[in-house]
Amino acid sequence: MAQTFLMKAKLAILGATGAVGQEFLTILDERGIQPGRLRLLASPRSAGSTCTYRGRELPVEEVGPNSFSGVDVALFSAGAAASRKWAPVAIDAGARVVDNSSAFRMDDDVPLVIPEINAAAIGGAPLIANPNCSTIIMNVAVWPLHRRHPVQRIVVSTYQAASGAGRRAMLELENQTRDVLDGKPVKPAVFPVRCAFNLFSHNTPIDEQGYNAEEAKMVHETRKIFGRPDMAITATCIRVPVLRAHSEAINLTFGEPVTAEEAREILSQAPGLRLMDDREGNRFPTPIDATGQDACLIGRIRQDASQPDGRGIDLFVCGDQLRKGAALNAVQIAEALMTE
Ligand code: A2P
Repeated sequence: MAQTFLMKAKLAILGATGAVGQEFLTILDERGIQPGRLRLLASPRSAGSTCTYRGRELPVEEVGPNSFSGVDVALFSAGAAASRKWAPVAIDAGARVVDNSSAFRMDDDVPLVIPEINAAAIGGAPLIANPNCSTIIMNVAVWPLHRRHPVQRIVVSTYQAASGAGRRAMLELENQTRDVLDGKPVKPAVFPVRCAFNLFSHNTPIDEQGYNAEEAKMVHETRKIFGRPDMAITATCIRVPVLRAHSEAINLTFGEPVTAEEAREILSQAPGLRLMDDREGNRFPTPIDATGQDACLIGRIRQDASQPDGRGIDLFVCGDQLRKGAALNAVQIAEALMTE
């Protein structure tokens, strides 16, 4: 039913030339959306260029006041400033907007949705926010456990790919890697420091408590999605020289004992997850395994031995940042718009 809707809907993509925009096209292609129903929008820099979609060249247009007339659903991934400017225009034109930026996520009247968790929150909202990529990937794994045994505290450390900073950041990682191997000097441009053969604290602004903005998003967005404004969460977000899949080490404290066996059983059946937890073979999720996959990979499921009462579980999850972390989650929201 959801796919039938997308087949009939008139869609627009704002940010079509970007890393997430291109992933939207791949996912819509997989769902069989026909070219005539797609409008590709970007900045003036891209006006006149084309994107190949299902074997046809589609024009990329500069976004403008008339871009959204007749559009049913607009998928936005062009940054928070563009979202703030164009979301009201799209909504006035009658479109429903699924926004991948951080612009509206924490607004009270804007649902923040991971369809596996809270699709019902969409209601009739004209604007639905797609959560932060690390937040989505973490919570696809945490939610199924939380539903059975409420989580009291989350401690998460991330290993985040370059794709979260966009197409130019991915190119920078590729070019820097080549330059280092060729013995050439490295000049960081998108990232503040060298990314190739290095890692660094997520380069978002630091608040007065010392958390960067990515860490704060994981805390506040998770609380909103779970409907638990007081949930104890602390995060450390690190960028690593990986192209497009995020990894996260997650430590959970529950209000009651939970065994690793039960956690594994729950996670093996959870939507959006695939178990990769081979202790004998020492084979667990890697970002390369997760790349191009819809499912997030879950493994290293073990009792936290530092919590003697059995209330702690450790996990490791890898998810494709461009797919479940961004474009796939947004398309799933668009599909859910017609099934609510
Ligand atoms: P363009 O390619 O014309 O610059 P990424 O996150 O990979 O960097 O991609 C960002 C996307 O958002 C690109 O498609 C980019 O278009 C688009 N974009 C950035 N700023 C604007 C803007 N002010 N108006 C419309 N599109 C924008």
